Amino acid sequence: MADKKIIAAVGATGAQGGGLVHAILADPKSGFTPRALTRNTAGDKAKALAAAGAEVVAADLDDLPSLERAFKGAYGAFCLTNFWEHFSAEKEVAQAENMARAAKAAGVRHLIWSTLEDTRRWVPLSDDRMPTIHGKYKVPHFDGKGEADAKFREQAVPTTFLLTSFYWDNFIYFGSGPKRSEDGKLALTFPLGDAKLPGIAAEDIGKCAYGIFKRGDEFIGKTVGIAGEHLSGREMASAMSAALGQEVRYVDVPPEVYRGFGFPGADDLGNMFQFKRDFTDYYTKARSVDFSRSLDPELQNFKTWLSRHAKEIPLD
Ligand SMILES: NC(=O)c1ccc[n+]([C@@H]2O[C@H](COP(=O)([O-])OP(=O)(O)OC[C@H]3O[C@@H](n4cnc5c(N)ncnc54)[C@H](OP(=O)(O)O)[C@@H]3O)[C@@H](O)[C@H]2O)c1
Repeated sequence: MADKKIIAAVGATGAQGGGLVHAILADPKSGFTPRALTRNTAGDKAKALAAAGAEVVAADLDDLPSLERAFKGAYGAFCLTNFWEHFSAEKEVAQAENMARAAKAAGVRHLIWSTLEDTRRWVPLSDDRMPTIHGKYKVPHFDGKGEADAKFREQAVPTTFLLTSFYWDNFIYFGSGPKRSEDGKLALTFPLGDAKLPGIAAEDIGKCAYGIFKRGDEFIGKTVGIAGEHLSGREMASAMSAALGQEVRYVDVPPEVYRGFGFPGADDLGNMFQFKRDFTDYYTKARSVDFSRSLDPELQNFKTWLSRHAKEIPLD
């Protein structure tokens, strides 16, 4: 244990960081050991991680000294922010800066930053194909993460920038699943046209991150993207129909209609899908499935994910 390399995982009680902690625990001969960071070490998820063999330590992304303590002695750090807790891209940037400063202070040798594109590089604020949100963003939950890449570079922390993909788990937990139309049929509604959406099982993000740590310095300073499969809306609906045993139709809507759906973040997500549709060549090429499988040999495609989780998709 003492000579193992510690990987400090932010978000260990959640989807991405949890996937990483479990991947390390499942590979006891690897030479790595997980340190799970959480604000609530007494919570059920923290207790379950400790019971599974992880070191659990308290840390809050808004509290720099707590992060410095949590990163101390760690070889690696997996870093993320959770936009959906506060809906603030500015807060994500500030939290990323705290992680970068703490990693620098602790001498972390390899940090993986779970990031996304700053879409303003493709769609400047002056481009009115999509509305500007909160005065200075096009896709706030992407733009803040992309903007925060600079914080790790400014601190000269050895960083791999990991571009993630749409979780298929959103069909279960995020309200993105099929809804019943007036005719009683299930419809999967996205403003994607015929564009393919790179998707992934959320747990595979952590497993791919583990693959990156295992490959040493190879990806430090680089941006790499991951996905389990690239599928059009029609292809996702067809796979869901087969897994659920009832028809799911794909319904394409214009992005402005999706932005008007009224749920919290609908404008942000409408712009996000429009970005993925309008820049599909760039967006899909940035997320190679073959590369992802080289990091995570157990990488799930959508059919495999459905075979394990279709029953959990709420059908209302
Ligand atoms: N849904 C998607 O399709 C998708 C795709 C790509 C990227 N993302 C991004 O993924 C991020 C969320 O990651 P996730 O899905 O893995 O998270 P999650 O399952 O929702 O869990 C959130 C995690 O973040 C930790 N956390 C949040 N605020 C914290 C703070 N102030 N200090 C310390 N820890 C904090 C929580 O830890 P404790 O509560 O235990 O402290 C928890 O482990 C979002 O920013 C989202 O934009 C989502």
